[in-house]
Amino acid sequence: MDLAKQTLPKLVIKGKTMPYPIVQGGMGVGVSLAPLAGAVAREGGLGIVSSACIDRVISKRDGKRYNSYEAAYAEVALSKTSGGYAGINVMGALARDYNDSVKGALDAGADAVISGAGLPVSLPSIQNPKDTALIPIVSSVRALEIICKKWEKLGYRPDAVVLEGPLAGGHLGFRMDQIDLEENRLENLFPPVKDVARKYGDFPVIVAGGIYSYEDIVSFIKMGADGVQMGTRFLATDESSATAEYKQAVIDSTEDDIFVANDPGSPCGLPFRVLKHCPMYASALKRLRPPKCDKGYVLLKDKEGKFTVCHAKESNAHHFCICNGLLSSAGYNPDKEEPLYTVGQNAYRINKIVSVKDLMEELTGRLAVNSAK
Ligand SMILES: Cc1cc2nc3c(=O)[nH]c(=O)nc-3n(C[C@H](O)[C@H](O)[C@H](O)COP(=O)(O)O)c2cc1C
Repeated sequence: MDLAKQTLPKLVIKGKTMPYPIVQGGMGVGVSLAPLAGAVAREGGLGIVSSACIDRVISKRDGKRYNSYEAAYAEVALSKTSGGYAGINVMGALARDYNDSVKGALDAGADAVISGAGLPVSLPSIQNPKDTALIPIVSSVRALEIICKKWEKLGYRPDAVVLEGPLAGGHLGFRMDQIDLEENRLENLFPPVKDVARKYGDFPVIVAGGIYSYEDIVSFIKMGADGVQMGTRFLATDESSATAEYKQAVIDSTEDDIFVANDPGSPCGLPFRVLKHCPMYASALKRLRPPKCDKGYVLLKDKEGKFTVCHAKESNAHHFCICNGLLSSAGYNPDKEEPLYTVGQNAYRINKIVSVKDLMEELTGRLAVNSAK
């Protein structure tokens, strides 16, 4: 097939047709806000705001106090003002703010709520989603089956699923010893997930993790995927709200700089891909940083089943302080906190920061730029 002449198919989710099958992955903390999500929406993809610590980030930006509900509402509404489709990413690990972020996005008319970092088993029961698509993120066929069965009991089926493989940025849905297994390559995870999606009403399957070029997209579409979700390529755009230092660190990175952190690792308990020379990871490695969590977004269950535990709060011997590190990477408190940079495995291939418009032209086969270092 002549790739240059291939037109990508549209992506249809819950009756809405996106001109291109490209979902911009939610990137917290504060990397994918309305400037990025709105630009992607305008260019024909699905733009996704990240809900992580959004109350603090938006309050600082706007000089006005928002709670999590209000911040999710405001940012989703803003993303949709210049047309196209936009939604929100809400991580299960952010238990305290989860329901409020979902409700704010639904009330703002989000086109999608995408949720992972834990199985979003209760998502359909939070509030009637009306015409908002509910989309779980999974990293295995087993996780998707569990969600489909649980959601069926709530009278709901996923409107699409994101299947995220081990090359993604952010938290990974794999144990350390599973990351490099042949069976966990995205192309090998995909076929059984597509089968389960067919079994439960044939909802779209969107693949994620390490997808870099137009050719990658075409290859997954040919395999039967309905769309792709991409994070790292959108991190390196003018419109992403990562600091200039973070974007420069992506440009300067080599393959050897990209590393899956586990100990010290994320207090969420999942492996987390980092640029290993970034300031907070470097000092976490020396295990010198005193614990000083004052944010409390990431909470795990205590013995009584209540969300009160953050490992990084008790000691930083084995964990970095992810809320403060990522907030700093988006320019919040940069003088007080060292930044923590997360990227996907292919970040080292990026050699310049581009506009979302140019990136979408490249990814849809209309422009050849920035495809190789
Ligand atoms: C900077 C950054 C932040 C991310 N934050 C989140 C997040 O808050 N929630 C989430 O579900 N996924 C998050 N991800 C994962 C992306 O949404 C996406 O699925 C993934 O990066 C795809 O892999 P790629 O980066 O190789 O394209 C993040 C990824 C990056 C690079």
